[in-house]
Amino acid sequence: MTVLEASGPNAAQITYWNEVVGPTWAAMHDALDGELGVLGLRAIERLAPRPDERLIDIGCGCGATTLELARRVGPAGLVTGADISAPMLDVARRRAADAGLGQTRFLQVDAQTHGFDAADGAFSRFGVMFFADPVAAFANIRRALKQGGRLAFVCWQSLENNPWMTVPLAAITPLLPGAAPPPITPGAPGPFAFADGERLRGLLAAAGFTEIEVSSNREQIGWGDLETSVNTALRVGPVGVAARENPDLRPQIRDAVRAAFAAHQTSEGVRLESGSWIVRAA
Ligand SMILES: C[S@@+](CC[C@H](N)C(=O)[O-])C[C@H]1O[C@@H](n2cnc3c(N)ncnc32)[C@H](O)[C@@H]1O
Repeated sequence: MTVLEASGPNAAQITYWNEVVGPTWAAMHDALDGELGVLGLRAIERLAPRPDERLIDIGCGCGATTLELARRVGPAGLVTGADISAPMLDVARRRAADAGLGQTRFLQVDAQTHGFDAADGAFSRFGVMFFADPVAAFANIRRALKQGGRLAFVCWQSLENNPWMTVPLAAITPLLPGAAPPPITPGAPGPFAFADGERLRGLLAAAGFTEIEVSSNREQIGWGDLETSVNTALRVGPVGVAARENPDLRPQIRDAVRAAFAAHQTSEGVRLESGSWIVRAA
């Protein structure tokens, strides 16, 4: 149940992550963690958590990275997972309890406006691209950082730099009635809000960060074997939207995605190139 009311600057995202995609992410967290895990680790390496630290995991979702950070700060540290999505936080709380990681706590709050307790570091795996006002949000996160504190996160580059998404999308586009999925408005809240690395650098500077490193990371990622990949693609991202909006075309969409993915099978399952920014700022 949603405790956080869909109000304030990110009301639309609160509704979206609670009622539209949150339940799907909650149900599919294993496949999504399999895909994003390696990219999250790249950002955790840039954060370099130390024992006993207090950290914030922004947009922690189902909590995989909160748990990983908690293991690194140890039992005397504290990791606060912050997210707007009740169904995803339910999964995170359950996983933390199952893992016996008492040094975690989860808050259903808007990271753009919540007054966080003082922290040594803030982290995010793909949870910072949805703010209505990214400068206000990053300034708010920066306010929580103690002297010498740092922020590290991973976010997507452009859609074009992410064939793991464009390949299935191109395969289904000829099947869709009318036009292809609507073009992405540059900089608008969403997965590709920080596609432009220079703009991202400017947003962080405007929020008060001075030491800013934005590094390009290109590597292959995947959801698993062919069937898992097809099933996941049909439920998340732009292909998931198309499958939901065109139920009559679902069998054809499924076949087209399977054919596209089959060309990218490896001994480790379906693997396709991704492009992300690994960011550190202080
Ligand atoms: C792409 S998901 C990533 C989830 C998780 N970090 C992971 O890697 O699996 C984005 C997450 O950001 C959260 N989010 C979006 N806007 C937010 C906001 N203003 N404050 C806190 N969390 C937010 C969403 O609810 C969602 O869980």
